[in-house]
Amino acid sequence: MSQSLSARHRAALPSWLSLYYEEPIEIVSGRGRHVTDAAGNTYLDFFAGILTNAIGYDIAEISDAIRRQVDTGILHTSTLYLIRQQVELAERIGELSGIANPKVFFTNSGTEANETALMLATQRRRSNQVLALRNSYHGRAFGTLGVTGNRGWSASALSPVKVSYVHGGYRYRSPFRDLSDADYIAACVDDLREVIETTTAGDVACMIAEPIQGVGGFATPPDGLFGAFAEVLDEYGILLISDEVQTGWGRTGEHFWGIQAHGVTPAAMTFAKGLGNGLAIGGVVAEAGLMDCLTANSISTFGGNPISTGGAAAALEYLLDNDLQGNAAKLGTRLLDGLRAHAERCALIGDVRGKGLMIGIELVEPGTRTPAAAAAARVMELTKQRGLLVGKGGLHGNVLRLAPPMTLTDDEAAQALQILTETIALAEQELHR
Ligand SMILES: Cc1ncc(COP(=O)(O)O)c(C=O)c1O
Repeated sequence: MSQSLSARHRAALPSWLSLYYEEPIEIVSGRGRHVTDAAGNTYLDFFAGILTNAIGYDIAEISDAIRRQVDTGILHTSTLYLIRQQVELAERIGELSGIANPKVFFTNSGTEANETALMLATQRRRSNQVLALRNSYHGRAFGTLGVTGNRGWSASALSPVKVSYVHGGYRYRSPFRDLSDADYIAACVDDLREVIETTTAGDVACMIAEPIQGVGGFATPPDGLFGAFAEVLDEYGILLISDEVQTGWGRTGEHFWGIQAHGVTPAAMTFAKGLGNGLAIGGVVAEAGLMDCLTANSISTFGGNPISTGGAAAALEYLLDNDLQGNAAKLGTRLLDGLRAHAERCALIGDVRGKGLMIGIELVEPGTRTPAAAAAARVMELTKQRGLLVGKGGLHGNVLRLAPPMTLTDDEAAQALQILTETIALAEQELHR
């Protein structure tokens, strides 16, 4: 008998490239919010390729834009030549950014976007000192690993930046968690000031932060935290970089960028994932003075290629024309309300949090705050059996993550809610057996 694809995956690919599920699935086709695996099972997709298939599957407008470029015979030219789609997309993202006098640089991933932002800020400020948040994730290369505050994803201690971590992103396990929103923010601001004064040499380049921590389990700080941080950062001339790789493009419902919940415009924002609806594209948008501060050449060979920028432009217009941000707000509220109501009756659920279609359910041993990672793994299996794909994350691997395509319908939201409440209740019953 031929070896299974998952055995071949394990033999041919790195051990640290982990797969979901006891029996991993191979997704072979998709339509709307549904995907089908090689065995013919269809699933409602509530993780969307890690928040990347923001619009969904088989979207004619996006496929047509890609096909139009393929039909020219040109898949790639390089940034040595003018690329119309790249210029147009840069202009559009600049307009949407809210940053004054914006410029955009395109990359192929979120990691590269954050590496670029760190390089810009450290060059501009002539300092390799950086602030980041505990429980953060910003990517897999040396600079981005250097600002990742999550042991599970810190593959190396080698780093080009000297980082100091501050409190604030992950309230559920914070020493300040029992404070009111205002007091929590005040305590985090005091901590920030103390970290700057005690752990740095003073001339810090930037703070990089996710408005909602993605890999960290959709940890959601109170609105206004980053605005309060920015007041302190401004005193020291420290630049704020908002990592919008997960929170951008309206996914949080109430705003187009996650940082807007905090009443502050950052010096730079980084993006990737949802922009291309699956195409490999990321980038940085920053005020021109910051973007232009490099004094040597720098290129990304593939960054901003005509396929990814053409497809991403079509995805962005689709998202705006169909008010997917509004849909994320409406259905996100419905899901959050339903899950919070269920949490009242379910001791396995320690916390339900998030915004829009970015929702985390933190599972704990009933009556405690001890992370229930095995229960989360069990819910993953049970939801899969019932035709729902969800994500998992958090520092302890005990947080279920919901992030469906933003074209989600009322019926699909109701169906997912029912499967989730049923499977979490079942996992809780199994714990008591
Ligand atoms: C907030 C955040 N930043 C950066 C990245 C890295 O993006 P990529 O995997 O495209 O390099 C991720 C990936 O999950 C992310 O969630």
